[in-house]
Amino acid sequence: MNIIVTGGAGFIGGNFCHFMVNTYPDDTIICIDKLTYAGNLETLAPIMDKPNFKFYKTDICDREGIYKIFEDEKPDVVINFAAESHVDRSITNPEIFLETNIIGTSVMLDACRKYGIKRYHQVSTDEVYGDLPLDRPDLFFTEETPIHTSSPYSSSKASADLLVMAYMRTYGLPCTISRCSNNYGPYHFPEKLIPLIIANALNDKTIPVYGKGENVRDWLFVIDHCRAIDLIVRKGKEGEVYNIGGHNEKTNLEVVKTVLSALGKSEDLITYVTDRPGHDMRYAIDPTKIHNELGWLPETRFEDGIKQTIDWYLNNKEWWEHIISGEYQNYYEKQYGNR
Ligand code: NAD
Ligand code: DAU
Repeated sequence: MNIIVTGGAGFIGGNFCHFMVNTYPDDTIICIDKLTYAGNLETLAPIMDKPNFKFYKTDICDREGIYKIFEDEKPDVVINFAAESHVDRSITNPEIFLETNIIGTSVMLDACRKYGIKRYHQVSTDEVYGDLPLDRPDLFFTEETPIHTSSPYSSSKASADLLVMAYMRTYGLPCTISRCSNNYGPYHFPEKLIPLIIANALNDKTIPVYGKGENVRDWLFVIDHCRAIDLIVRKGKEGEVYNIGGHNEKTNLEVVKTVLSALGKSEDLITYVTDRPGHDMRYAIDPTKIHNELGWLPETRFEDGIKQTIDWYLNNKEWWEHIISGEYQNYYEKQYGNR
């Protein structure tokens, strides 16, 4: 099969490209990425020269460019990871989120209609369901939970999901959607919580915790997410939404303390800062459907995954030091300087 993966130079898309190139030598993985601040060719370096991997530096909003790739590559499957993905950045500058996450998705869907594909898969997020209260641990997001977004980021992702559903119903495009909880693992951009803690702690910098640090996220090791998407694309039913998550809820403070302890760093580095506006309290996925229908279960326990992740950051300092030494410094100063 020829499989287009958009956003493959980012965190999850990058891990997915590694996984697919190494697992399916007979498939060709065609990565399309604009290489925004979050895209990094160093993430793809280990597979760049593999015979079953190709890379195009193209914006998914560039209709002509995308159509040309479809004409040349004749994809069977398209998996759309490309997105602006950071909630904090969406609060500062929503527009680019609407462009990439909504217009970009519509261009990919139009290309699929025009050239014909066997499956389009939209990589969505649990954030489209909004949040759950902290005092109701019995509640979980199911595929039936209504869309109820909080941030410009989650609203743009929900809009993309609605477009995918419209293309299924109106044009009969064969699509699936997955909504996953928070991922962690290698190649995670240092603006996000876990890599930010690791990078700051290793540099003995303070760890900014929003509000009281009691918000809850449901953490999943990135390779477990990749396996789930592969399974949905190959065995999932057209027209279906699948939630992905491993019942691994932690408060932000628990995560910070776990990482600091693993690195042998003092909890004195923790600094409470002004909360994120509209900050979602709790995410928690009910993964019953993907387990019952496709047999998926997470394989990596948090204790093992976080150790593996920390080891990766310790052994790949060049990858993230390169990132945090550039434009990232200006971002960090603006985001945290006066907080
Ligand atoms: P990321 O920010 O690390 O990577 C995004 C990638 O998309 C980058 O390589 C970037 O260059 C590329 N990109 C951005 N705009 C583009 C455009 N216009 N055209 C082509 N490429 C473009 O993001 P991530 O954390 O890897 O997330 C990937 C996908 O998974 C996103 O759709 C996100 O909404 C979803 N998701 C993420 C998580 C998570 O915990 N990180 C959880 C659930 C779902
Ligand atoms: O749930 C899936 C989503 O998870 C994805 O759709 C998003 O693309 C991804 O970025 C992630 O969103 P979050 O907002 O949950 O991730 P982030 O790493 O930005 O923050 C995790 C939690 O940590 C959140 O409650 C905010 C808090 N936080 C974050 C940062 C960066 C802090 O307390 N301090 C920080 O400096």
